[in-house]
Amino acid sequence: MIFDAIRESHDLQRDLCRKLTASRGEVAARELLFLQLKVELMAHAAAEERALYVPLLMTDAGLDASRHALHEHHEVDELLEKLSVRRKNQAGWLATAKTLSYKVRHHLKEEESKFFRVAGRLLSATKRSQLATKYRREIARMRRHYASDYGSVTVGTDTNLVQPADNRVDRPSRRGDASAGAKLRGRSKPRRTR
Ligand SMILES: [Fe+2]
Ligand SMILES: [Fe+2]
Repeated sequence: MIFDAIRESHDLQRDLCRKLTASRGEVAARELLFLQLKVELMAHAAAEERALYVPLLMTDAGLDASRHALHEHHEVDELLEKLSVRRKNQAGWLATAKTLSYKVRHHLKEEESKFFRVAGRLLSATKRSQLATKYRREIARMRRHYASDYGSVTVGTDTNLVQPADNRVDRPSRRGDASAGAKLRGRSKPRRTR
């Protein structure tokens, strides 16, 4: 069912948020956790909007809940953008990461305790099952889509989850020259690093 599929993603987000806000010292580890969370949040929002909120928006009774949820997705996007700076140990970065974590948790709780109930009343059992298939297909595709922007994260072929990439053979040969690394990877343009 669609709600179980989404809950699995929510648990992943909670886990990544907890690890990110607890990260101390090691900037490289923090960078990786942030990218994993960023890709996961963006992929989830896209898949959830397509598989849950679009059908909900088409019903009169689901209009308020879906508008509210889409607004919160946008707020999360803005915080992710604010956190996407090169230096993740600068003053205020962790405080903003904590704001993001708070916002995400608030949003997940509201979806699980309120919006799922609204959606449960408006979508038939058959529709909920069809949407679960759509959601799982979309999130797998969107994780790959967003992860491909970054060299340091990838999507596991067996797990389908965002994970750190093995960069040992993927590292640019000339440090500081991003296009050299892109050529090594057979890409026409450098990947984003933030
Ligand atoms: Fe959401
Ligand atoms: Fe969600």
